[in-house]
Parts: sequence; C-alpha cells; structure tokens
Amino acid sequence: MRHIIAAIATLLAGWATIYMIGLDKEVNKLDNISKLIKSTAMEDKKIKVQTHTKSATQTKKTETNNQQDDEVANKIKALKEKAGNLAAFKTSTLYKKSCASCHGNVGEGIIGSKLIGKDKEYLLTALKDFKSGKRKNYVMYGLLGNLEDKQLEELASEIATFKAKLDKASK
Ligand code: HEC
Repeated sequence: MRHIIAAIATLLAGWATIYMIGLDKEVNKLDNISKLIKSTAMEDKKIKVQTHTKSATQTKKTETNNQQDDEVANKIKALKEKAGNLAAFKTSTLYKKSCASCHGNVGEGIIGSKLIGKDKEYLLTALKDFKSGKRKNYVMYGLLGNLEDKQLEELASEIATFKAKLDKASK
C-alpha cells in the first residue's frame, strides 16, 4: 500500500514538475505576448500621434472653413440689410437660371456645394469633369450636358469673381 502511495506521489510530483515547466513556458509566452503588446502599444501611440496631428489639421481646416462660412454669411447678411435684398448682387442669367437654385445666389451653397471663393481653374476643371463623367455626379452631369465648353468657361470665370464682388457689395 505504501508503495502504491509513494508511486502515486512520485507521479504527482513528476506531473507537477512537468506542469510547472509548462507554466514557465506559459510565463515566457506571456512575457513575449506582453512584450508584443507593448511594442504594438508604441505603434499605437505612433498611429495615435499621427491621427492626432491629422485631426488637429482637420480641425484647423474646419475652423478656417467655418470662419470663411461665417464671413460669407455675414457679408450676405450685410448685403441684404444694405440693399434690402440680394438683387444688388448681379449674376448672369445663365447662372441665375441654371445654378443659383442649388448653389445660391452668391454661390454660398444650398443643395449644391459652396462655390464662392473657389478659383476659376478649380471650377472649370470641376465643370469639365462633371460634363465628361470623369467626376461622377448625376445632377451636375445632367445639367452640364446641354452646355457648351465656352459656357462652362464663362460660368467658371463668373463664379470666380463672386468673392470679390460680395466683398465689394457688402462694404
Ligand atoms: C439641382 C441642383 C444643382 C444645380 C441646378 C447645379 N448644381 Fe452644381 N452641384 C450640385 C451638387 C449636389 C454638387 C456636389 C457634387 C459633388 O461634389 O460630387 C455640385 C457641385 C458643383 C461644383 C463642384 C464644386 C466643388 O466644390 O468641387 C461646381 C463647380 C458646380 N456644381 C457648378 C455648378 C454650375 C456652374 C451650375 C449651373 C450651370 C450648377 N452647378 C448647377 C447641384 C447642383
């Protein structure tokens, strides 16, 4: 009986040793894992820093945009107060008829994007790209299909002057 107990004890001890070695390995594994986690954490930090910088620029950009929006909105308001209505801000018949409903009388943007403050080259490229379908937008594509390239150029030139015009008109 004693022999049997001794044998079982030895077996248990052996198993325990093996188990402990195993645990050691596990601990090593854990160590490695935590090292790995730490290194990714650094990567994470790097990524975080990058995203942070990015969002900081983005915030700045949005702020500038908001400031510009506010500026345009204030000037439109001033124009309304001064002239009684926006009729003082004259635009071509083509713009009034075909574009103002979505982009606003002053290009301030309603359903369509804000156009005021954008330069001629940017506007013309956008219009050409909409017309050719390179830049996909069904509304603009459908609208510009009937217009000649010369008209696109005229529109781009005209819209590019909106900002200066508004500045002048709201003084
Ligand atoms: C039915 C509404 C609607 C009308 C009318 C309309 N647009 Fe647009 N326009 C849009 C929408 C919506 C967008 C945004 C499309 C996009 O960004 O993909 C847009 C985008 C644009 C852009 C690009 C702006 C940018 O920031 O990249 C320009 C330029 C433009 N329109 C000019 C015009 C001109 C010029 C006319 C008149 C011939 C006109 N639009 C008429 C709805 C309209």
